[in-house]
Amino acid sequence: MQQITITTPDDWHLHFRDGEMLHETVPATARCFARAIVMPNLVPPVINAKLANEYKSRILAARPKGSHFQPLMTLYLTNQTTTQDIIDAKQAGVVAAKLYPAGATTNSAQAVIGIEALYPVFEEMQKQGLLLLIHGEVTENHVDIFDREKVFIDQYMIKIVQAFPDLKVVFEHITTSDAADFVLASSHHVAATITPQHLLLNRNDLLVGGVKPHNYCLPVLKRSTHQQALRNVVASGSNKFFLGTDSAPHAKHAKENACGCAGCYSAWSALELYTQVFDELNALDKLEGFASFYGADFYGLPRNTTSVTLAKQSWTVPESINLADGEAIVPFFAGQQVAWKIV
Ligand code: NCD
Ligand code: ZN
Ligand code: ZN
Repeated sequence: MQQITITTPDDWHLHFRDGEMLHETVPATARCFARAIVMPNLVPPVINAKLANEYKSRILAARPKGSHFQPLMTLYLTNQTTTQDIIDAKQAGVVAAKLYPAGATTNSAQAVIGIEALYPVFEEMQKQGLLLLIHGEVTENHVDIFDREKVFIDQYMIKIVQAFPDLKVVFEHITTSDAADFVLASSHHVAATITPQHLLLNRNDLLVGGVKPHNYCLPVLKRSTHQQALRNVVASGSNKFFLGTDSAPHAKHAKENACGCAGCYSAWSALELYTQVFDELNALDKLEGFASFYGADFYGLPRNTTSVTLAKQSWTVPESINLADGEAIVPFFAGQQVAWKIV
């Protein structure tokens, strides 16, 4: 196939950041996605409806002229989150709340210690129909970083979905066959997002021939058998797995650093790279479900009615993106060829 037209997709997991950065990140996503779940890990985090509404206005103001792109807002759970925060968030149009175990990832220092303490909040979310989005990794020092997702499933995920059978749970950016199997074995209230980097790469791409800081994200890339398991589930066309880029910009100097930040800025190439993966898997017929249908269906939102066309035409991702304030960002796949292009 040389060309494919799909219903306009949505991105069910990304980081826009804030301030000046919005003028870079919002247009990059709005070029091909109709909606996006905007993660709340700002500094300070988006912990209530008021902050979510204000953040939403700043995002809307950064849209390109004429764009109908819609941000879908989320709340950052902390040990101080109350059931009233959940009720207020629902009323304000917030669609989900994000659980970061404290210390698990970028800007999670103020997040949750002792997940069971949040059960009353999960109870209210279940009642209000707010989705629970989970960064599923434990943070204990003695747990090997490559095992942290699997241990999270065993210690927390199983219990949460059992305790709240009607709560919709998204296991975010899954990286292991364990997570894929868990989601497949769970009820229709449990689904997962998968990033382009975890479909395209494995830990060799992070560490062989030198450390590749621009392939460093959390959860960290795993061994190729896990990558293959993720490729298999998306190729299967299961509606429990959908597109979430986890596009997460960091300044070049913060990534190319003795203590480099986690996150890949993929907004300028993500849809094209997903298409490339589905093409490699001979599963282009499954792309539209993954990119455009299953996420909206799971969130209980209407599917988009417009469309996007991609052609099999290779192009090179730029080496660097220069921001107005003088900062540079190295995009995901910088300097590399992508096989598909938006028409
Ligand atoms: C994300 C970020 O930079 O905000 N980083 C990442 O490596 N994925 C946070 C997250 O999604 O865990
Ligand atoms: Zn995360
Ligand atoms: Zn993320």
